Amino acid sequence: MNSDYIKRDTDVESILVSQEELSDIVSRIAAEVSSDYEDKNLLLLCILKGSIVFMGDLMKKLTIPCEIDCMKVSSYGKGTESGGRINILLDLHRSDLSEKDILIVEDIIDSGKTLSYLVNYLKINGARSVKAVALLDKPSRREVEYTPDYVGREIPDEFVIGYGLDYAEQYRSLPYVGILKRSVYEK
Ligand code: IMP
Ligand code: MG
Repeated sequence: MNSDYIKRDTDVESILVSQEELSDIVSRIAAEVSSDYEDKNLLLLCILKGSIVFMGDLMKKLTIPCEIDCMKVSSYGKGTESGGRINILLDLHRSDLSEKDILIVEDIIDSGKTLSYLVNYLKINGARSVKAVALLDKPSRREVEYTPDYVGREIPDEFVIGYGLDYAEQYRSLPYVGILKRSVYEK
């Protein structure tokens, strides 16, 4: 193991969702989505970059056909606080949304602003249906009223990293979801 890897692990306060639990969660959601979208025209929409790992695992476990696409959004904000104004950095450029049942795949829902904005944006742009799955949910942080259609697991109000989730672009490749030590960002 190189020293960078060891440093990544020592910045983790504790493991919140283990690899085994993540696998179980993804299997459960994949089964639900496969059943609910059997007669639909599923387009899985990965929200970059945090949802890459979840999206990859979820699509492999689906038992129905799907297309995939990506969008990239940023909510203005620094460090461990998400902002509020949503900025589309990579948009969907497709003319067939009226035939698609979109499932937005998001890593985590916090204030709810990103997902509520995206659902509305895709509906306005003519998608046949729009739902969302969030791997993790911090319900105590909600600022706008929005509940994802599928949730992997609720978590407490802690800043988490790994399985795609970052702090300052680091830690995305950790195979579990861990709580980041406060000493890393409270300097
Ligand atoms: P929302 O718009 O406030 O719901 O923010 C959702 C976005 O904030 C997620 O897609 C993440 O990019 C980011 N975020 C919120 N909480 C965390 C966290 O604990 N770790 C890493 N990113 C987070
Ligand atoms: Mg994100």
